[in-house]
Amino acid sequence: MPKLSFPEGFLWGSATSANQIEGNNTNTDWWVWENSEQRAKELRNKNKNPEDFKSGTACDSYNRYEEDFDIAKSLNQNVHRFSIEWARIEPSKDVFDPKEIQHYRMVLQALKNRGIKTFVTLHHFTNPIWFAEIGGWEKRANIQHFIKYSEKVFLELGDLIDFVCTINEPNIYSTMSYLSGRWTPQQKSLSKTYTVYENMLYAHIEVYKLAKRLDYKFPLGVAQNMVAFEGRGLGKLVALIARYFYQKSFLDRIYKYSDFIGVNYYIRNLFAFSWKPPFLHKIKELPLTDFSWEIYPKGFYSVLKEVGVYKKPVYITENGLADSEDKNRKEFIQEHLHWMHNAMSEGVDVRGYMHWSLLDNLELAEGYEMQFGLVKVDRKNNFERKIRESAKYYAEICKSNSIEVL
Ligand code: BGC
Repeated sequence: MPKLSFPEGFLWGSATSANQIEGNNTNTDWWVWENSEQRAKELRNKNKNPEDFKSGTACDSYNRYEEDFDIAKSLNQNVHRFSIEWARIEPSKDVFDPKEIQHYRMVLQALKNRGIKTFVTLHHFTNPIWFAEIGGWEKRANIQHFIKYSEKVFLELGDLIDFVCTINEPNIYSTMSYLSGRWTPQQKSLSKTYTVYENMLYAHIEVYKLAKRLDYKFPLGVAQNMVAFEGRGLGKLVALIARYFYQKSFLDRIYKYSDFIGVNYYIRNLFAFSWKPPFLHKIKELPLTDFSWEIYPKGFYSVLKEVGVYKKPVYITENGLADSEDKNRKEFIQEHLHWMHNAMSEGVDVRGYMHWSLLDNLELAEGYEMQFGLVKVDRKNNFERKIRESAKYYAEICKSNSIEVL
């Protein structure tokens, strides 16, 4: 079988986030929400058991990170993306917890000891309770708190950090929390969505300037959720507009303040238009993941080409699928990497790929049913980790820095 090689020094790894794997992140707005009576009622109304939707002990990675990193190392991964939980290190406004800062020093050191590069996200959806209570990302005046927290992270942990991702998916956070209302604080307001998006953009730029002012050498960027927008007939116009507002307008404004662009790619949205209500439809016609997301590897190529226009280094900060039986993951990885390679051979400067996720984890508002892990986590059996077959396949790619194609 022919082989396609990747450039020397290409980074291969996986990604996680604090709230989704650590467990007991009791100082977050998410914790308050998932334990609230309002959320429980909402779930019971849908005939669901609220207990299945609480992060609880998650994967217990707060205590088991050494074991997790041993696994990543055994799978030949040389970079790892994870997030620092702001609510842990600043549990009250302006009060930083040295114990938790020390914890993250140990986490970073554990990666370094294994020769794995550290890719640190500062904000991955969750906020400290106090920050949410003063209006969170809705208020421009609150952004100073995020900047202060970022500075603290740089000063205390900067020597162990190789890459910084300021904010994970401002477009997903603002739309899920303020437009569809599916995540806390469950608002449905277009104007708030816009404000939050703008405030995140501002926060990213300010943190970028701060890092440069303090002369940190780590590359700093943002992770943008990139959708392959496509359309049939008049749906093409809708796709164009959606692409602009959802992802392009943001990148157009931040790329000058980013050393790299992080791409999280999962899905396509295919729009079709008809003259009968509801006029606009979203069509699905490809094989689906457990989450009912279309598997569309070619879309990876299109979003990379979109990002390529900024002429910046690109890191794939997330790409993966929910596949509890591990039926499609191997092929998914192979085909996505093939299309990524195509984009690279046409000039897109991709320098690393981090699969989502290392572990099965809390899939946010969906509980634990959706399994994105290269490694299965048996939460009922002492959190036992079990390496999936697809992870072994991916490990060979990481080792050989190449993929075999048909
Ligand atoms: C998020 C992850 C999430 C994944 C799968 C991404 O948008 O960054 O936190 O688990 O999608 O839904």
